[in-house]
Amino acid sequence: MLGIILAGGNGTRLMPLTQVTNKHLLPIYNKPMIFYPIELLKDMGLQNIILTTGKEFGGDFTDLLGDGSRFGVKFTYKVQEGALGIAHALSLTEDIVNNESMLVILGDNIFLFDKDERARIKEVVKSFTKNPNGAVIFLKEVEDANRFGVAELGDNNTIKNIEEKPQEPKSKLAVTGLYLYDNTVFKKIRGLKPSKRGELEITGVNNAYIKEGSLRYHIIKGEWADAGTFDSLHRANILARKNAEETPVPGA
Ligand code: G1P
Repeated sequence: MLGIILAGGNGTRLMPLTQVTNKHLLPIYNKPMIFYPIELLKDMGLQNIILTTGKEFGGDFTDLLGDGSRFGVKFTYKVQEGALGIAHALSLTEDIVNNESMLVILGDNIFLFDKDERARIKEVVKSFTKNPNGAVIFLKEVEDANRFGVAELGDNNTIKNIEEKPQEPKSKLAVTGLYLYDNTVFKKIRGLKPSKRGELEITGVNNAYIKEGSLRYHIIKGEWADAGTFDSLHRANILARKNAEETPVPGA
């Protein structure tokens, strides 16, 4: 299985901070944002990681992260030429992924799991590696679901539908930026059309899995923040501060 970190986009909601550097290099308490998804993938046992970034500040990623040895992983970099969406960024990895399955994480998603939850999620990842069929998404109950992809659950542990940033969310279950995909994901991306914001949406991919009856889910209990707005960036900093003693900073 390969790890994939999607760190493209212009970070327009964080201007003018994102004029100084790329969103994913901004600090979250004591380390750059991008360290968190790297550490999560490593924690899940993945050593080969593909990082998709935008062109602007692209060199700053390689300056900071190098070949990955500082983290005990191996990076391959891909460049996304424009802000064409998360699913588009994922499609760029196809030639490297080949026939593998993948654990995909958005570069601005910060997950703080305790030991038990980490072990549970590791189990989900491990069993998907053994039998990579369909997809698994990770949901989190939130109060501001309209900011995210929102899952509507059906009977027998199924998901009926996912809506991207609905005005009237059908549940409080936000789709977090952590996904397990089998190799059919690339074909599904090829079937997508750009959304209103002109992007290939990851929600379209997940709905394609729902359509074929192969999307499973796992509800997470630990803290989660996507650091894409000033308020969520601030909240991510507070959460990371609380958690900091447990996680040494690589290279500090
Ligand atoms: C993206 C996805 C959304 C998901 C969120 C998680 O939103 O489109 O479905 O809930 O990440 O962070 P975006 O960051 O592009 O607004």
